[in-house]
Amino acid sequence: MYSKKAMSYFKKPVNIGGMDDADAIGEVGNLVCGDVMKIYLKIKDNVITKATFETFGCVSAIASSSMLTEMVKGKTIEEALKITKQDVIDALDGLPAIKIHCSVLATEALAKAVENYRK
Ligand code: FES
Repeated sequence: MYSKKAMSYFKKPVNIGGMDDADAIGEVGNLVCGDVMKIYLKIKDNVITKATFETFGCVSAIASSSMLTEMVKGKTIEEALKITKQDVIDALDGLPAIKIHCSVLATEALAKAVENYRK
């Protein structure tokens, strides 16, 4: 079962939506289920000042992306990249074991956004 926190981030996700003036965008997909996650970042002086997301996916994927966008705000790019899928899972008070792989999408989308930003 989902934790209360995970359900609340799914039902009322924070930072949802695109970003017209994003400095970096990262998009990844899960080949198994077909779900897609896109993360948008606003970066100033190497610090992530704003992060939003669009996710077409399951409860875990949406809750994880919403949580990750909260966690990266105010962090330097290097600090943000150190956030692991386990950090996201812990911040959501856990995810059902069968859904843990979904949280990987969030950290992968972030890594992709940073990769695109640095190019
Ligand atoms: Fe696709 Fe969760 S089932 S990301």
